[in-house]
Amino acid sequence: MVETSIDKILEQATEELAGAVDPDAVGQLQVKYLGRKGLVTRFLRNISNLPAEQRPAAGKRANQVKKHLEKEFARIQKQLEAGNQVAERLDVSLPGRGVLPGCLHPITQVSREICDIFARMGFEVVEGPEVETDYYNFEALNIPKNHPARDMQDTFYISENIVLRTHTSPTQPRVMEKQAPPVRIVAPGKVYRCDSDLTHTPMFHQVEGLLVDEGVSFGDLKGILTAFVHQMFDSRTNLRFRPSFFPFTEPSAEVDIGCVICRGKGCRVCSHTGWLEILGSGMVHPAVFENVGYDTEKYTGFAFGMGVERIAMLKYQVDDIRKYFDNDYRFLRQF
Ligand code: PHE
Repeated sequence: MVETSIDKILEQATEELAGAVDPDAVGQLQVKYLGRKGLVTRFLRNISNLPAEQRPAAGKRANQVKKHLEKEFARIQKQLEAGNQVAERLDVSLPGRGVLPGCLHPITQVSREICDIFARMGFEVVEGPEVETDYYNFEALNIPKNHPARDMQDTFYISENIVLRTHTSPTQPRVMEKQAPPVRIVAPGKVYRCDSDLTHTPMFHQVEGLLVDEGVSFGDLKGILTAFVHQMFDSRTNLRFRPSFFPFTEPSAEVDIGCVICRGKGCRVCSHTGWLEILGSGMVHPAVFENVGYDTEKYTGFAFGMGVERIAMLKYQVDDIRKYFDNDYRFLRQF
């Protein structure tokens, strides 16, 4: 009889424990069965009221049940606590973390846009090395030994005859050496100059252009560059060809565009001139043709070189070139 009632308590406790959903519920059951006034505790306390011959068996069984329940409570408690931790780590009600998609760097985008415009006009895109010989960077381009561009302050020398190219122009003689006219190329890439401030970084990007054929004139240079500017900016953009000097072109011209910020009225960006310089250009100097073995009687050509950062700054109206190289995602993701 007595044994039956302690087993009933066990059965009931087991059933209720199976239904416990969290550690708190287990705690309450522990109090209900094993607490000071718990069912098992009271049963044990009442054993002394039983007839003497029943006491040993009842005591033994009750102690077994008590030990069993203590173990079970502890086991289930542990299980539910572990489950809770998992649940805390995986809060399924939280919104998912978005994936930040990457994008091409604005300088890469603008460089490609420049090349695409020329590609549509029949120019082929080629590339030359960034570590260049003194010959291609200077000598072949008719830049004499005492030219200021060779100054240590501008040029990064690797050894006496090896430099980091200071412009993309060395791709001109490199291409012409290998290929007979006609030539129509653009060459994008990194260039290096020992210079650093608001508008200069020691590494920047240029796109070089070269067109050589029979009967090429300065008018062709103007036509091609005008078409380029109108596609790159807009067809309202004015151009101005200003006489200049480069050892590898003659005559030479720098090209200004009407300020894209103030539309020529004058502002801080254009130093109140209404004009912005965007590239250097000119007719290929005969000395350069001679260096690559072209017939200077038969062929003429033009070349140009532009800074990609400068064009990107104007296009996106960014006033500090260094923003392009900080790699701050908040800046870069806008493009
Ligand atoms: N290489 C010149 C520069 O870096 C630009 C240029 C290229 C000028 C081709 C004329 C012809 O300033």
